[in-house]
Amino acid sequence: MLRDAFGRVATDLRVSLTDRCNLRCSYCMPPEGLDWLPKPELLTAEEIVRLVTIGVERLGITEVRYTGGEPLLRRELVDIVARTTALTPAPQVSLTTNGIGLARLAEPLAVAGLHRVNVSLDTLDRETFVKLAHRDRLADVLAGLAAAEAAGLRPVKINAVLMRGINEHEAVPLLDYCLERGYELRFIEQMPLDAQHGWRRENMITADEILAVLRASFDLTEADPAERGSAPAELFLVDGGPARVGVIGSVTRPFCGACDRVRLTADGQIRNCLFATEESDLRAAMRSGASDDELAERWLAAVRAKKAGHGIDDPSFLQPSRPMSAIGG
Ligand code: GTP
Ligand code: 5AD
Ligand code: SF4
Repeated sequence: MLRDAFGRVATDLRVSLTDRCNLRCSYCMPPEGLDWLPKPELLTAEEIVRLVTIGVERLGITEVRYTGGEPLLRRELVDIVARTTALTPAPQVSLTTNGIGLARLAEPLAVAGLHRVNVSLDTLDRETFVKLAHRDRLADVLAGLAAAEAAGLRPVKINAVLMRGINEHEAVPLLDYCLERGYELRFIEQMPLDAQHGWRRENMITADEILAVLRASFDLTEADPAERGSAPAELFLVDGGPARVGVIGSVTRPFCGACDRVRLTADGQIRNCLFATEESDLRAAMRSGASDDELAERWLAAVRAKKAGHGIDDPSFLQPSRPMSAIGG
């Protein structure tokens, strides 16, 4: 079991399949993109499946989420998912994506055994989408969402980051859109993980602000907190339920104390936290001939070193040098 010094057990493995992306969301990347990882540094599909297998078979991983960058850009994705869902004991397998390409891939992914998808959708307005993501792809995202629903990848969850002066007025229309279609919407506080290091706490739209705006239009009651477990989203029943909306207050309402996550980057580094300052290089170990036992031992050591929390409020806090796109959401 991947137990840390504070008694938390990591059961949720988040695997970044690529640092590349076909959008440029301003909370993540600059419009010109980034220097992508050179191909030889990326784990091969074979290496990814080997590490996921060690996690599931030896280390107690029960949930595997593929992320990016944009995971749909990874050619071997369907094969990687199929090989993951075939493991014993079978993990829950999900995907966090921007939705572009799902129109084509939702069905093959469902056939490969993928359980569900979380899709980023910050706006329903084409012009705002272009302003925010620097690409004119809103129609592709919406088509992808419809395809995920049709392929049975349910519940479809939607992630929305609200930003002042850009899409802050869209909380209510986004929720209406999701309620009509049965998607579970979660509003996310923006975290200091953008490549440009442009995050400022005073610009962040907080969980409290989001809830106040929603409460002007909807009746929100707290969902059963026992249901939350280690999930980042606080859930609220909308107008008595059963529909729900979530708020992920990573900054003002941190959930680090219940964290059950561990991350594998596209270049084979174990990160014990989104905000980790150190990584453990499983790629180098693997490529110099480490056995499964040795890899498991390194992984355990990396999790043991996990800090109590992200420390964003500490005066000494430093934003990680890796941006969100190279860590995985
Ligand atoms: P499910 O609810 O089980 O689908 O998982 P999830 O909400 O973790 O999935 P998703 O990948 O969609 O993540 C949603 C958002 O939660 C991300 O965009 C992050 O903002 C936040 N988040 C995910 N993992 C972490 C984490 O380890 N720490 C913190 N602070 N925030 C996280
Ligand atoms: N703060 C909060 N959420 C972010 N995401 C990307 N960058 C940030 C950030 N700086 C979210 C996206 C996506 C998920 C992978 O992470 O909205 O849904
Ligand atoms: Fe791409 Fe996701 Fe970053 Fe947006 S947040 S640029 S969709 S990796």
